[in-house]
Amino acid sequence: MDVDLALLADTKGFLHPDEGRRLYELALEAGKLGPCLEVGSYCGKSTVWLGAACRQNGTVLFSIDHHRGSAEQQPGEPYFDPELFDPRTFRIDTFPFFRATLARAGLEDTVVALVCSSQLAARHWTTPLGLVFIDGSHDFQSVRQDYRMWSRHLPAGGYLLFHDVFPDPADGGRGPYQVYREAISRGQYDVLPMTGCLGILRRRP
Ligand SMILES: C[S@@+](CC[C@H](N)C(=O)[O-])C[C@H]1O[C@@H](n2cnc3c(N)ncnc32)[C@H](O)[C@@H]1O
Repeated sequence: MDVDLALLADTKGFLHPDEGRRLYELALEAGKLGPCLEVGSYCGKSTVWLGAACRQNGTVLFSIDHHRGSAEQQPGEPYFDPELFDPRTFRIDTFPFFRATLARAGLEDTVVALVCSSQLAARHWTTPLGLVFIDGSHDFQSVRQDYRMWSRHLPAGGYLLFHDVFPDPADGGRGPYQVYREAISRGQYDVLPMTGCLGILRRRP
C-alpha cells in the first residue's frame, strides 16, 4: 500500500484512518470496473486513500469540490477553520490546500480535480464509475441529490459509499444516514458492514 501516513496525519480532514484504509481496499477492487469519483475533496484526506488505489490500478479518481466549504464550515459555524479563510475574497478556499496535498502525495497524474459544484459536474456525465464516495454537503436534500445524480453511473458490482452515516442521532447529523437507508430500501444494493461511519453498499447485478 503506497500511502504516506505522515502526510495524512498532516492533512486537515475528518476521515479516520480505518475508514481511509477501507476506502483504499474498496477502490482497489472497484478499479476493475471503472474510474472512481468522490464528492467532497476538502483538503484531500480521502483523496489520498482513494487516489493511491486508483494509481495502483492505473485508473483515475475524479474529485469534486467547489472548495468554498459546506454550511458548517463557514465563519461562525462549528467546523470553521480560520486557516482556510481567504481574506482577499472573504470566502473559504480549500483548493490551495488540496492542490498541495495532491503534489505531496504524488497524485497529480491520477486525480482529476473538478473545481465546481457536484450538480454542475453531474450535468453532462456519462462515464460509468466503479466507486462513488459521497462526502459533500451533509444536509438531507444535498446528500439525496448527490446519491441520485451519481449512483446511476454505477454498474453491477460498483460501490456506493456514504461518509458520516450515524444510526444513533446522538452521534451526528441525519442526512447521510437517511439517504443511506433510502438507497438500501430500493433493493438495488447489497449492504456490507460499516467501517466507522463509512456506509458501504454494492450494486446488485
Ligand atoms: C466534509 S468535507 C469533505 C471531507 C473530505 N472527504 C476528507 O476526507 O477530508 C465536505 C466538502 O464538500 C464540499 N461541498 C459541499 N457541497 C458541495 C457541492 N454541492 N458540490 C461540491 N462540493 C461541495 C465542501 O466545499 C467541503 O470541502
